[in-house]
Amino acid sequence: MMKPQEFNIASNQAYDLAASKHGICSGAVRWDNPQTQYFRFAELVKYLDLSDQNKSVLDVGCGNGELFKYLNHHGFRGDYTGYDINLGLLEQALYRFPGINVFNRDVNQIEDYEDFDYVLSSGVFNIDFGQSLEFIHNFIANMFRHARHVLVFNAISTHVNYRDQGMYYIDPSQILRFCLENLSKRVVLSHGSLPFNYTIAIYKQTRYDPIIERS
Ligand SMILES: C[S@@+](CC[C@H](N)C(=O)[O-])C[C@H]1O[C@@H](n2cnc3c(N)ncnc32)[C@H](O)[C@@H]1O
Repeated sequence: MMKPQEFNIASNQAYDLAASKHGICSGAVRWDNPQTQYFRFAELVKYLDLSDQNKSVLDVGCGNGELFKYLNHHGFRGDYTGYDINLGLLEQALYRFPGINVFNRDVNQIEDYEDFDYVLSSGVFNIDFGQSLEFIHNFIANMFRHARHVLVFNAISTHVNYRDQGMYYIDPSQILRFCLENLSKRVVLSHGSLPFNYTIAIYKQTRYDPIIERS
């Protein structure tokens, strides 16, 4: 299986190249345009209460901080924290939003980071670096461990009519099965709102745990 360090080297090369080519914009994080990026954000935040200022958000793979701006423009006044492995993109985020709470952290290589009410992640699985499904499963489990309420992330679907070379297509039913069998029974898969993409929300289970009555 690909080691997290190997993934990170390949990922940093790809995003460094994009940032040097496009400068500070959605192209630096390899979105075709801001609309595609924003459609994905809109899907992620459906599972959040944006009006609750006591909630905290962790943005895994925050890139140059666009989700911070999106959340702010949509009324979120809680705590925002972003983690990313790419230093150049984090510098862009700090330049754009002085004081933004972002850190150079890899969710797959740290155990003791704090918990957040909402963990969000957009686009971290987009590029094909030869990573295995097991690597993706571990990545999802690592993010979920630190969500107090819900983890929401997206991926590119295998149910498409053409494929772009270099993009990483993941069968949604395999991810769904992994989540249901290993993480929580409260999982929502949304495969209808975005072309080529799907969004998965995994809730911590507490509210719907079954009540078992013994006689
Ligand atoms: C497609 S970009 C999306 C950036 C941002 N979420 C957005 O939509 O604007 C994917 C980001 O994930 C970051 N990334 C990849 N693996 C990561 C990891 N293990 N931990 C944190 N960030 C990671 C990359 O450096 C890159 O900035």
